Amino acid sequence: MRVPIVELKSQYLAYQADLDGAIREVLEASRFILGPQGEAFEREFAEYCGARHAVGVGSGTEALHLALLACGVGPGDEVITVPNTAVPTVCAIDSTGATPVFADIDPVTFTLDSAELKRRLTPRTKAIVPVHLYGQPAEMEPVRDFARRHGLRVVDDAAQAHGAEYRGRRVGILADATAWSFYPSKNLGAYGDAGAVTTDDPELARRLEMLRNYGEERRHYHSIRGFNSRLDEIQAAILRVKLRHLEAWNDRRRAIAARYRQAIHHAAVRLPAEAPSARHVFHLYVVRTRHRDALREHLLAREIGSQIHYPLPIYRQEAYAHLGVPAGDCPEAERAAAEVLSLPLYPELTDAQVDAVAAAVNEF
Ligand SMILES: Cc1ncc(COP(=O)(O)O)c(C=O)c1O
Repeated sequence: MRVPIVELKSQYLAYQADLDGAIREVLEASRFILGPQGEAFEREFAEYCGARHAVGVGSGTEALHLALLACGVGPGDEVITVPNTAVPTVCAIDSTGATPVFADIDPVTFTLDSAELKRRLTPRTKAIVPVHLYGQPAEMEPVRDFARRHGLRVVDDAAQAHGAEYRGRRVGILADATAWSFYPSKNLGAYGDAGAVTTDDPELARRLEMLRNYGEERRHYHSIRGFNSRLDEIQAAILRVKLRHLEAWNDRRRAIAARYRQAIHHAAVRLPAEAPSARHVFHLYVVRTRHRDALREHLLAREIGSQIHYPLPIYRQEAYAHLGVPAGDCPEAERAAAEVLSLPLYPELTDAQVDAVAAAVNEF
């Protein structure tokens, strides 16, 4: 049975009338940038997260970049994050002019090990960017305590964690600001690039609204240096339709993860763990094995797609060689990079497909 690693068309077909209608409404209104759809989505998404404000922006990378700028991060500062994340986390830090500093991860949850923060702190540290990787919230309480003690800002990267919870509270209100991506394959995905920042801080929200729109304070008056990074009306209208289904889709993702847990039994394959503090939303279902490349080949031969998120700690990417981070600096992240493999997991998978993936892994 063929099981691709991602497949977006069946979701579109299932909600086609609503999605087409939403797009047509924007075309008929012919208001494309900073209009009623964007405002309504910001209201609805803020409410979903339990945050006071949401500010739509052009992408998840821009959400991080602008949130860090709004928090006052800039050249000469250091920002602590993890090396096992999507490269855009670090692109965003880099774009502010600050220097990314890498802290190692907890090998069970793949998220920031807060015990590392002390070791990475310098007088230049300005902010921390924990990443809720694969859909599992990072352990935020010790991160926030550490930030409070040292006067640091926290901007969490929630690109993979729409609807995830930490100690009973939704991601989106756990830091000074939370950055979201609505890249098409995310748990809540647009049909193009899109992103948002949620925050409870009205000052931060106001700065973000200016930063995304050329630094404009009122029409044609620009009080800060800004960018062009807005969530457009078509994407906002699509996201409004999809937001109504996010909870059901996350429940289905969790049900598939539970099915994998019951069905996969292999001495050499470790299944993902859900931390006691977390409601994991399984953006990705990531197993670990020392025989990762062989398992990937084995699945491919059975027409089962898989992916490696991510094959290199970011400090070992060519683009970041100039940071001079020595190999082995974050040993847990390096081990994870060599062992992780993402299996197919999206709400539209059938139980038969899930069982076929599990059987193929068991056969390995
Ligand atoms: C963890 C993480 N951070 C940031 C991003 C960047 O989001 P975008 O592609 O919307 O810029 C992504 C996704 O691509 C991501 O997975």
